[in-house]
Amino acid sequence: MKNVYLETLGCQMNKSDTERIIGILSHFDYQKSEEQNADLVIVNTCSIRKLSEDKAYSKLGVWGKIKEQNPNLKIGICGCVAQQEKENLLKKFPYIDLVFGTHNIYELPELIQSIETKNPDGTKNRVCAIREDAVPEKDFNIVRSSGINAWLPIMEGCNNFCTYCIVPYTRGRERSREIETILKEAKQIIKEGYKEITLLGQNVDSYGKNLPDSPIYGKQDFAKLLSEIDKLEGNFRIRFTTSYPTDITDDVINVVKNSSKICECFHIPMQSGNDRILKAMNRRYTRAQYSEIVNKIRTQISDVTITSDFIAGFPSETEEEFLDTISAIKELGLDYSNTAAYSPRPKTPAGKMTDEFISKEDKKHRLAMLNETVKEASKKSNETAIGKTYEVLVEKIKEEDAKNSLKRIAEGRSRNNKVVHFQSNTARIGDFTDVKINEALVWCLKGEEIK
Ligand code: SAH
Ligand code: SF4
Ligand code: F3S
Repeated sequence: MKNVYLETLGCQMNKSDTERIIGILSHFDYQKSEEQNADLVIVNTCSIRKLSEDKAYSKLGVWGKIKEQNPNLKIGICGCVAQQEKENLLKKFPYIDLVFGTHNIYELPELIQSIETKNPDGTKNRVCAIREDAVPEKDFNIVRSSGINAWLPIMEGCNNFCTYCIVPYTRGRERSREIETILKEAKQIIKEGYKEITLLGQNVDSYGKNLPDSPIYGKQDFAKLLSEIDKLEGNFRIRFTTSYPTDITDDVINVVKNSSKICECFHIPMQSGNDRILKAMNRRYTRAQYSEIVNKIRTQISDVTITSDFIAGFPSETEEEFLDTISAIKELGLDYSNTAAYSPRPKTPAGKMTDEFISKEDKKHRLAMLNETVKEASKKSNETAIGKTYEVLVEKIKEEDAKNSLKRIAEGRSRNNKVVHFQSNTARIGDFTDVKINEALVWCLKGEEIK
């Protein structure tokens, strides 16, 4: 057996790909290992911002140094930076053995074999495999990370072409997996004992658009998929991400509302609170339309959590337009938001608006203000939980030294995705237990277990 270590950067889609990559390699004499014992190291990269891309290069730099001492170490790079930079990576980093793109995962067995074979002249074979189109998936093992949650990709790629975003270039056009394939994987996940399934897609509401009707399930859309997974036997939760504001249908809201397994939680990136900027971003909604969908979900589903993403300092954004983002977070009562300063990406239309770039200082100042607003919003949202009783799924147990008497603290999440801490001598990872909330902090809640 040989050892492989994967370092995963970026979104849940990358985490899920890593589990598939290790699964495929497990058919070919590789086992998952720690970084220091590995014969093959691979960095699965993210390109959403320049900063994410740089993280990949610094990891490669570290491994390059290790390889000077251990020339047998094989180094690979995959994911969104690989798809974007292609052969350039072999030129830029002479110690890399393998580059493969986001559509090449199922070719790994042949690729690994090829880097393990020397050229006729004795030199090492270095390989770059990038496809522009996806190939049909194959049935391999999936080596899932431990814990209570399992990632389940329902679709890949994106057709939205928001002007700042690199994902449509690194992940290709949108394509959905068949309901039957997803249900088979979901059943396996439940059998393996996972307590939560998170359905993944760049835009889950577009699920099924490229699929023909199924002989068993008829029209394949997201509401249908959710209700079919909801029907599966077992004690588990269902989550999903990401939703596109104006694509969320009444059917989806109804399925979430009436299901006992699907959690009351929507991640709906708004990106900006200003209509001119939304248009420049090629987001297909206005502030008023976004607000309408948020209000609709809140009236239909009680105690629902709505989270978002925002970008500060999109090219040409004025200070006044930025303040519309701040007011939107407050006005809409968004529970939590991810934030980022705009980062120009290759190939994207916004990346070419160089004359209208916002200065580094202004972006920094806007981002700080955005983060402060998100913090206040999160505290406010958490305060509404005080006095309520939440069903918590336990994810971690920690021993805490509270002035020399050891306390056993359980950490988990409520259905509406709030992090909850409570003291318990009996709770185990994977348990569902009721907790009465009595304290709200900025990023988490504290409570007492009710037995
Ligand atoms: N599919 C999801 C998000 C994918 S990327 C959606 O439709 O919203 C995750 C987040 O990264 C985005 O929501 C956006 O807020 C942020 N992001 C994407 N490109 C960016 C860029 N060039 N600079 C800064 N943030 C960016
Ligand atoms: Fe990027 Fe927009 Fe697609 Fe999200 S919807 S992945 S932000 S292009
Ligand atoms: Fe990053 Fe690629 Fe995901 S760019 S956010 S890893 S789809």
